[in-house]
Amino acid sequence: MLRYLHFYEPRGIRLVRGEAQYVWDSKGTRYLDAHTGHGVAFLGHRHPRILKALQEALDSIIVGGPGLAGEWLEEMLASLEPILPNWAGAVTLLNSGAEAVELALKIARRVTGRSNIVYFTGSFHGRTMGALSVTSSNPRYRHGYEPLVPGTLQARFNDVNGLHEVINDSTAAAIVEPIQGEGGVNPASEDFMKELRQLCNEKGCLLIIDEVQTGFGRTGRVWAHQYYGIEADILVAGKAIAGGFPASMVVVPEWVADKLPPGFHGSTFGGNPMAVRCVTAAARVLREENVTGQAEVKGNTLISKLNSELSGLRAVRRVKGKGLMVGVELRFPPGKAIKCLQEEKRILALKAGSTVVRFLPPYVINERDIDEIVRGVSDCVLRYYSR
Ligand SMILES: Cc1ncc(COP(=O)(O)O)c(C=O)c1O
Repeated sequence: MLRYLHFYEPRGIRLVRGEAQYVWDSKGTRYLDAHTGHGVAFLGHRHPRILKALQEALDSIIVGGPGLAGEWLEEMLASLEPILPNWAGAVTLLNSGAEAVELALKIARRVTGRSNIVYFTGSFHGRTMGALSVTSSNPRYRHGYEPLVPGTLQARFNDVNGLHEVINDSTAAAIVEPIQGEGGVNPASEDFMKELRQLCNEKGCLLIIDEVQTGFGRTGRVWAHQYYGIEADILVAGKAIAGGFPASMVVVPEWVADKLPPGFHGSTFGGNPMAVRCVTAAARVLREENVTGQAEVKGNTLISKLNSELSGLRAVRRVKGKGLMVGVELRFPPGKAIKCLQEEKRILALKAGSTVVRFLPPYVINERDIDEIVRGVSDCVLRYYSR
C-alpha cells in the first residue's frame, strides 16, 4: 500500500481545523498553537484578510506565469514597498525558504564573479543542496550528502575576530540569520553583525540576511536585522510572508537587480497569483494591525514571565529570543517537555538546537495564552527534571 514518506517524527495527533491562535485535532481537542507550522501562521490561522485574498484569486485566476502577471503584481509591490527596507529595489517570489536561499547564493556568485560563501556554526538555511551546504545546525542534516557545494566555508557564529580569518577577496557572500532559529534561538551579537557588515563592505562581498524565520514582524520589528542598524545586500524571507500560503521572497537593491538579466533564474510556481495576492494581504495586515507592536509587547511579556517563573530552576539554563521567537534552553534534551506540553497542557511547541523548547506563537495570542504557556512550561519542566 502506498505510504506517505514522512521526514518528520509524527506528533501523534491529526489536525483538522485552525482558527487564529488555536488548532483542533480529530478528537475535538483544542491546542494553543505556538508551533504555527514552523512559524508560518504568524498572522494566526485563517486570517480573514488572507482568506479574502485567496477567494479573490479563486474567483478570478489561479495560474498565470510571472511573464503573464496581471495587476495583482503591481498591488503586491505597492503593499510591500512600505514594509521593505528602504534600500530595496526589486523583489521576486519563490515557494520555500530553501529555494529563496538558493537564489540568493546564485545571485552572490553571479554579481561578484567570486565563488566562496561564508556561513556560520549553528546556522540553518534549508535542506536543498546549496542551502544545506551553508547549514550547520545539525550534522545529521549534512551526513551522507558530501561532497556538498564547493567554496562554502564555515566560521564561528558571534566570533568577531574569526570573521577576519575567513572573509577575503575571494568571498562572494556571507549568509547569516539575525537570530538563529533551528540552531537554538541564538541572537547574533551587535558587534558581530556590525563587523560582518563592515567587512563585507571592505572586501566587496554581499551580505545575505536570512529572515525566513525572524522576518515579517515576528521579532517585534518587521525585519530583525533592523535591530542592528545595518543593511543587507540580499534579504531572504519566507514562512509568514503570505499569511500561511506557501511563498518566499528575495529582495535586492537596484544595483544588484541591474546585474541579473532575464532568464538568469526561473520557477514555475514562483509568483503565482494566489501567492502574490496572499503576500499583498499579509503585508497590509502587517502595517494596518500593528503586528510588530503587538509582537514586541506580547513577546516582552512572555519572556519576562518565563524568566520570573523559571528562574532558580536548575533544569533551565536561560530564556532567550526576541518578540514572539522565544526559546527556553534546558540542561537536557527538550523532547519530554515538548511532549508534556502537547499531551497534558494542550500547547504545541517545537524543538530548537539540542536543548531548547521553542515557541513561535501567532501575534494574536492574548494574556491568558501567555500565562498558559508560562505555567505549562514550568509544570512540564518540573515534572521531568529535578529542581
Ligand atoms: C532561517 C531559515 N532559513 C531557511 C529555512 C528553510 O525554509 P523552508 O523549510 O521553507 O525551505 C528555514 C526553515 O526553517 C529557516 O528557519
